[in-house]
Amino acid sequence: MLPIPVKRRKKESPTPNDLHAPPGLFPGLCIFLVERRMGAARRGFLTALAQRKGFTVAPEFSDGVTHVVSEQNSLDEVLSWLERKTGRAGQCAGEQRSPHYLDISWFTESMSSGRPVSVEDRHCLQGIMPAPSSDKADLSTIQPYGCQRRTPLIHHNAQITDVLEILARAASFQGSEVRQLGFTRAASVLKSLPFPLQSAKEAEDLPMCGGHCKAVIREILEDGVCREAEELKASEHYQCMELFTSIFGVGVQTAERWYKDGARNLKDLQGLNLKLTEEQRAGLEHFTDLRLPVTLGEADRIEDLVRGALQKFVPDIQITMTGGFRRGKQQGHDVDFLITHPDDSTLTGLLKNAVDWMDSKGLLLYQHMKKRSHAPPRTNKGGMDGHETCYAIFALPASNVEESKSEVPGVSLNGSCASDVPSHDWRAVRVDLVVTPHSEYPYALLGWTGSKHFERELRRFTWDKKKLTLNSHGLHDAGKKCFISATSEEDIFTYLGLQYVPPSDRNA
Ligand code: CTP
Ligand code: MN
Ligand code: MN
Repeated sequence: MLPIPVKRRKKESPTPNDLHAPPGLFPGLCIFLVERRMGAARRGFLTALAQRKGFTVAPEFSDGVTHVVSEQNSLDEVLSWLERKTGRAGQCAGEQRSPHYLDISWFTESMSSGRPVSVEDRHCLQGIMPAPSSDKADLSTIQPYGCQRRTPLIHHNAQITDVLEILARAASFQGSEVRQLGFTRAASVLKSLPFPLQSAKEAEDLPMCGGHCKAVIREILEDGVCREAEELKASEHYQCMELFTSIFGVGVQTAERWYKDGARNLKDLQGLNLKLTEEQRAGLEHFTDLRLPVTLGEADRIEDLVRGALQKFVPDIQITMTGGFRRGKQQGHDVDFLITHPDDSTLTGLLKNAVDWMDSKGLLLYQHMKKRSHAPPRTNKGGMDGHETCYAIFALPASNVEESKSEVPGVSLNGSCASDVPSHDWRAVRVDLVVTPHSEYPYALLGWTGSKHFERELRRFTWDKKKLTLNSHGLHDAGKKCFISATSEEDIFTYLGLQYVPPSDRNA
């Protein structure tokens, strides 16, 4: 039971005006953060964070509140807490509408998007939620490899991991793989924690977390921001590298070369008279569309198109959506598919036939086929992925394009996205199509589901602990000179002596 400050109970009902911090960027939206279980310090930090990003946060609950956000409370708990604080039932907060009662996941997603994301069922508080204090695991028992942990998509430490991921990205832009991996590993450990880290002291015991990362965590918990990350984000180099590497077909080295040659924006690239690859040319041509996240609904429409094309040639073809969507993401930068059939002979020429057919129907804006080049996994890195693959850009017909992905119902977003409205009746979507022989399917499924860090950790574990090499073709025992067959992903985990991790917990 939490004591209720007498002072607040006595306070008269405040008018909406004196409740609101300076008007924010999102008129009509007003957040109230529930202090119960969140604690005053964290509530203060989250309030400051939201205000910096232009959100209005009410210091006290009132009729003006549109989004009630709480952490680790059930709906019942929040409603009765509000009732005790305000002396009236929480559901009847407004005359026309009740506010949304939301989990912190809505808040963290909105903060990272820089705008209020639309409210979905998964954000809404449910009746009963497990009490958090009991699952505060002993930090010293955290497993060292990402593939030994469960890492859900929505987790409790996004404020910290967002910053660590900025530092990781900046390290990769500076060509330091070691530092990139250090920040990524620390972020991954935090994503797997079943509770929010609340003090720097707790961070002391975290595995895979070096001195630099701990200092960053301390700074975020104490000051609410990390100066190093803020400076990096504001730097010209970081911004240019992020912009250039977001172009399809452009890696860190190419981006760095362009930066060194003086390019600072997309227009500058034209001035440099660059020798672009076909891929990069397509990436630049469809840049605006490809920057927009692909929604799950759009991914489903793409799946229908791909399935239809493949079934023209092999009616009982098997197709699986992999990548981020298989891990439960609601949006992604592309859509990944794995294609297989129990009779390998049906796969010969299939991808080319299906792609040519889709091309003839005007469904493709770009495609690049890579032939199968089976590279057995003999090195401890696991070798290259050698499946037959088509890297494509689809023209998803407008009837299939979801409108207004980002709006919160009834909340204006200040018209900031108006210029992104495309003038054509399709939208460009990046798609990866991968064909695998049936015997390699479990390995390909495991390899193409990700996350990238989960895959890296799985391969590292396999080599360090089992002296086996793993890639998306198979598992190889160099000593016995044999490949280990598997009929499912579960088989592979079992063989490696790992507990099975479902795709939704592979967001390492
Ligand atoms: N992958 C791979 N070989 C490639 C490209 C990707 O094996 N040439 C694997 C990656 O390791 C990853 C998965 O395919 O596990 C999906 O990659 P990608 O689409 O880049 O990332 P997602 O996790 O799907 O993220 P997003 O939702 O942004 O697309
Ligand atoms: Mn993907
Ligand atoms: Mn992909």
